[in-house]
Amino acid sequence: MVAVNGYAKINLLLDILGQREDGYHEIATVMQSLALADTLTLTKQESGITLTVDLPGLEADERNLAYRAAALLMRECGVRGGVHIRIDKRIPIAAGLAGGSADAAAALRGVNELYALGQSDAELCRLGAQIGSDVPFSLMGGTALATGRGEVLEHLPAAFDLPVVLAKPPVAVSTPWAYRSYDANPPTQHPDRAAFLRALHAGDIAACLRMAANVLEPITEAAHPVVGDYRARLRAAGAVCAMMSGSGPTVFGIFTDADDAARAAEMMRQETDADVHLTHTMGRSAVGRGI
Ligand code: C5P
Repeated sequence: MVAVNGYAKINLLLDILGQREDGYHEIATVMQSLALADTLTLTKQESGITLTVDLPGLEADERNLAYRAAALLMRECGVRGGVHIRIDKRIPIAAGLAGGSADAAAALRGVNELYALGQSDAELCRLGAQIGSDVPFSLMGGTALATGRGEVLEHLPAAFDLPVVLAKPPVAVSTPWAYRSYDANPPTQHPDRAAFLRALHAGDIAACLRMAANVLEPITEAAHPVVGDYRARLRAAGAVCAMMSGSGPTVFGIFTDADDAARAAEMMRQETDADVHLTHTMGRSAVGRGI
């Protein structure tokens, strides 16, 4: 039996550079792992892949990214035998937190270990990219610049170790919809990526957080004003940065003080309909080992 965590992420910076021939978009994004994680428990079985998920409404079949990741790696390595995967879900789904990718990454690490396949991180990332653009980052974690469609990674120095409040409004956002809406109405303003990366390398957290931006935020916020409301509430509660993650709708607030973060989480629970999680940023070494 093997237990592996798959970690949530937020995007500290997300810029879209253009459309690609393959239907995806060329992006440049700085991703940051969080301690919030799903736990996958894998056990060998005679044949086939079966899934148990502790969340009603989440597919427990071949549509689940963990299933597809396990199937791909087992086929690729000619594994004879099967696997049962139990997913203890903590990351909100369809939230912009890469929860599905986290499960796919954990499934790849778990099957690799369960069957002692000895596949390298590079090989797991290559397979992971076939499952979803965020899976390579979910495998490696920490702080990274992701380019291409999100699967080309450059590790960055840890941005900071700070508390984070996540607030997911009770609305659903489809990622393809967000990208299509962006194409129909592209903004003229883009984040200053070079300046952001300079500040990060210099360890100037305050400057980094001032320049944090997500070009999908105005798109999703126009359709779901609750995103702007949550940002304003978190900022009023003392967040040094409050913005939307990925294509949304989850809003994250980064705090410099743990007590402020805990109070803000409680306020969001009391005053809004959000699914609220109090967590913190997570370095690469723990994520890479999947523990
Ligand atoms: O790679 P993934 O399956 O997570 O992407 C989901 C959808 O998001 C894609 O089908 C595409 O519509 C959109 N997408 C994109 N460009 C990216 C990443 C995702 O257009 N770089």
